[in-house]
Parts: sequence; structure tokens; C-alpha cells
Amino acid sequence: MQIIRREVVLCAVLAGISGLGFSNLGVKELAGTAKIGDPVSGREIYVNTCIRCHGIDGKGAFGIKLVPPPADLTSLAVQSRLDGTLFRRIHEGKPNTAMGAWKHSLSDEEIWDVLAYVRTYGVESGGRP
Ligand code: HEC
Repeated sequence: MQIIRREVVLCAVLAGISGLGFSNLGVKELAGTAKIGDPVSGREIYVNTCIRCHGIDGKGAFGIKLVPPPADLTSLAVQSRLDGTLFRRIHEGKPNTAMGAWKHSLSDEEIWDVLAYVRTYGVESGGRP
């Protein structure tokens, strides 16, 4: 009786370990696909929501007067940041700046899409300021 119980416990532990292994894999895979945003739908979001501050070329909208000014999305300062950092900045916004938290109006998927579009500014400028 005791041996059986021990085996059951061992099985449960093993299942737990392999379950953990699988769930870790799942998270990695999810994060991996989430980062591959669609720059085409991202462009639409950008034009609708970001262009009025960041401008058509990502360097800032003409005539906008904000303190601090909108970040130059083509700059190395922005483009050298990790995807996760930029995602968080768009998601949470930047305190004490005009950059608001877009999590209220954009889904995570839409933020990955718009980030994929923001990355195209890095390709165009060669990632240099
Ligand atoms: C109301 C104006 C405004 C709008 C709209 C706006 N931003 Fe910003 N954004 C800013 C300002 C201002 C900053 C600069 C903050 C600073 O100086 O650190 C900024 C900074 C950023 C940064 C750089 C963050 C960093 O790493 O420091 C990114 C990326 C960015 N915005 C993306 C976006 C995207 C994508 C959208 C549309 C979903 C958007 N912004 C909409 C004003 C705006």
C-alpha cells in the first residue's frame, strides 16, 4: 500500500516537472510569436494614433510643441532598446511626458504590430541617429 502511494507521489512529481517544462516552452513560444508583429497593420495604427506627435517620418510631427518633445523614433536611442522595453513604454507610457499608456486603447497584439512598424524606422535610418 505504501509503495503504491509512493509511486503515485513520484508520478505526480514527475508530471509536475514535465508539466512545468512544457508550460515554460509554451511561454517562450508565445513570447516568440508575440514579438513578430505585423508592420502593415502596425502602420495603420501608427497613422491613426501616433503620427500626430511622432510625425510621418518618426522624427516628430511638424509644429508640435511638447516638453519633452516626442522621441525621435529613428534615433539610435530608441532603436537600440530591446523589444520588451519599447513594448512596455508603449503599453505603460512614460510618466511626466505626453507619451500616454496605450494599453487602454490598444491590445497587446496591436502594440506588437505598431512596434514592428516603429522598427521599420530603424531599418530606414540604418539604426543611426
Ligand atoms: C500626445 C503625443 C504622443 C502620442 C500620441 C504618442 N507619443 Fe510616443 N512619445 C511622446 C513623447 C513626448 C515621448 C518622449 C518621452 C521622453 O522624452 O522620454 C514619446 C516617446 C515614445 C517612444 C520612446 C520611448 C523610449 O524608449 O524612451 C516610443 C517608442 C513611442 N513614443 C512610441 C509611440 C507609439 C507607438 C505611439 C502610438 C501608439 C505613440 N508613441 C504615441 C508623445 C506621444
